[in-house]
Amino acid sequence: MKNNFNLIAPVYDGLVKVIFGSKLKQIQAQFLPLIPENAGVLIMGGGTGWIINELFNTGFKGRLTYVEASEKMIFLSKRNCEFSDSIDFIHGEESDLPVDRKYDVIITNFFLDVFSKTRLDQVITILSEKLNEGGGLWICSDFYDTGKTSHRFLLWLMLSFFRITTQLESKQLIDFHPKLEKEGYLRKQHFQMMNGLVFSSIYTNAR
Ligand SMILES: C[S@@+](CC[C@H](N)C(=O)[O-])C[C@H]1O[C@@H](n2cnc3c(N)ncnc32)[C@H](O)[C@@H]1O
Repeated sequence: MKNNFNLIAPVYDGLVKVIFGSKLKQIQAQFLPLIPENAGVLIMGGGTGWIINELFNTGFKGRLTYVEASEKMIFLSKRNCEFSDSIDFIHGEESDLPVDRKYDVIITNFFLDVFSKTRLDQVITILSEKLNEGGGLWICSDFYDTGKTSHRFLLWLMLSFFRITTQLESKQLIDFHPKLEKEGYLRKQHFQMMNGLVFSSIYTNAR
């Protein structure tokens, strides 16, 4: 099975901390306070779930749908979560999302980078159909290939590591901004750290 994070789930957050300190958490938390208080939020591939407490600690009072493909990751997310009454946990993928449900906000943090180009386009199209029209927000955080040698080396190292440990589908880091633009999204805000290696952006489908 591709993109299987079960093996590294127990050490994932620890590894991230060793390599990036608190920067990846900081970047993912950057735009959470901008989420409307009573929004319907969808988080795809949330990992160990630390972001759930982070979201609710901003004062968020809406409903959260949390989708994770790894059973180890979703186990940890449920265990770490302090707000489970307001959350629908789904152990599955984008194809397992409820058919009749749309969301005000979608969060894909370090999630779109696990897919091959063809699958990435499909995932973005599927998720796009799940976002409420005329003002829906899509928060994406991820790595960016700045072209700098040190960044390229780190990206290569990470891809190689995840290819071995998770059977990562992605062969290279793909810039998903053009696909989101093609789907009609406008970038509202952009924040970057580590000389551009990591970023968080908010997109909207408001016309
Ligand atoms: C690189 S990790 C990022 C985890 C988390 N967002 C973070 O930054 O700490 C990618 C996560 O996406 C999950 N994942 C991969 N493919 C998925 C899919 N199609 N649907 C839902 N989750 C998926 C993996 O199990 C993994 O937990």
